[in-house]
Amino acid sequence: MTERLTTMLTAEQIALRVRELGAAITRDYAGRNLVVVCVLKGSFVFAADLARAIDLPLRIDFLGVRSYGEGTESSGVVQITQDLSRPIEHDEVLLVEDIVDTGLTIAHLTNLLRTRGPASVKVCALLHKPARSRIDASIDYVGFTIDDRFVVGYGLDFGERFRNLPYVGILEQGG
Ligand code: IMP
Ligand code: MG
Repeated sequence: MTERLTTMLTAEQIALRVRELGAAITRDYAGRNLVVVCVLKGSFVFAADLARAIDLPLRIDFLGVRSYGEGTESSGVVQITQDLSRPIEHDEVLLVEDIVDTGLTIAHLTNLLRTRGPASVKVCALLHKPARSRIDASIDYVGFTIDDRFVVGYGLDFGERFRNLPYVGILEQGG
């Protein structure tokens, strides 16, 4: 089996977009109790860069989620592998996701966090693949809308590999 990796988004393109998202979030959340929730593991790189592009006092927390096995298809089953470290009551929660594909993960997480009495729950996703949407997940901040290709890097994995690539690449497998 051969693997081919081609660049979809360079590190420079991502950095530019992350600064724009950070500026928009800074404007929208000024004067509010912002909690940035990094959805592990895929968004650890994006959340680290995004948090530094937001010029506001904020709290950062982590939510561990598993929605895939080792393959490239969403199972639709979302398992919480690590919960938030603190309550989010009255807080403005911004869920940070690497990619919204079918939308099942983000819909599940949004519903789960809303039961805890936050002031608001919004979503910031680096990537959105609308072609595969199975549920109408509302995404408040989107980095890039992409075609239905399997991508890796900048936190995204294939079987836990490629998360450390500084860019987003399309992974193609041949026979
Ligand atoms: P959803 O529940 O189908 O929206 O899937 C969201 C999760 O699936 C993301 O947080 C990723 O972990 C994973 N995922 C979806 N598409 C890709 C991809 O192209 N590359 C790597 N992971 C992906
Ligand atoms: Mg993943």
